[in-house]
Amino acid sequence: MTARLLVIGSANVDLFAHVARHPTPGETILGQGGERAGGGKGANQALAAALQGAPVTFVGAVGQDGDADVALGALRTAGVDLSRVAAVADAPTGLAIITVSADGENTIVVISGANATVTPEQAEAAVAASGPDDVVLLQGELPRTTTEAAVRAAVAAGRRVVLNVAPWNALDRDVLTSADPLVLNEHEAAQAVEELGLEASGDGGTALAEALVTAGTPSVVVTLGAEGAAVVDASGTDTVPSRRVTAVDTTGAGDAFTGALAARLIAGDPLRAAVEHAVRVGAYAVQHHGAQPSYPGLEQELP
Ligand code: RIB
Ligand code: NA
Repeated sequence: MTARLLVIGSANVDLFAHVARHPTPGETILGQGGERAGGGKGANQALAAALQGAPVTFVGAVGQDGDADVALGALRTAGVDLSRVAAVADAPTGLAIITVSADGENTIVVISGANATVTPEQAEAAVAASGPDDVVLLQGELPRTTTEAAVRAAVAAGRRVVLNVAPWNALDRDVLTSADPLVLNEHEAAQAVEELGLEASGDGGTALAEALVTAGTPSVVVTLGAEGAAVVDASGTDTVPSRRVTAVDTTGAGDAFTGALAARLIAGDPLRAAVEHAVRVGAYAVQHHGAQPSYPGLEQELP
């Protein structure tokens, strides 16, 4: 049986506003945009992985509304298995309100809606139906109890878990330390180090990743933005640099990275090779507008 990627996570509609600069509290500014596209860190990672050739099943929830089609459209087109997505009557499809400034930086407010209804039982059932070589990928946008139950079920079943705790979510220690790899940005890595009561030798991504491995995490990848990523596991510490590119929109670039990473792990790549590919996919994504609309397929030339 070919290995599949089981992504248990959020699906949103992303609503974009393009602004010269971000408004300050109390301020009204004029912007442009209004584009709507599929989003949510779970769906984004599922799409990025599928576009990189992985067979993907997405587990999550949407509302019974028109936004559900927007949220799932690109995944459907990419051939992602959506049979484990619930359409719930009592909540709307998740919505993310995103402002992107002229320098490519974004702010995001997520209104969880249906994503908050994904239960531990729904996630556990999906894990129970997975195959021995399948990889389970999670993020931080589902209810904490659901994410924790899913990780524990996956570990008990002997599945490899890739965990991207974005946004940061104070998951239990056994959950954080069972990820292989745990994927974090520097800000999230600092929070994980603090929550686990660890001492890092510095505040850079490499030192934070090394500290998280001393806590028993099999492998840790810390994304460093334009600098690439730090990779730490039992075989040592490496930094994977990124080519310099001009960023127009960093929204969802971390999801492009994580989805591509998981796709390459499914394909049998060792961790460092998978991270090298993921850095290139992330660099491609920041050069194009939006999250999902900026993800490359196998035919695109990567930086
Ligand atoms: O990581 C980017 C994503 O965060 C957006 O697609 C938005 O929906 C939020 O979940
Ligand atoms: Na982008």
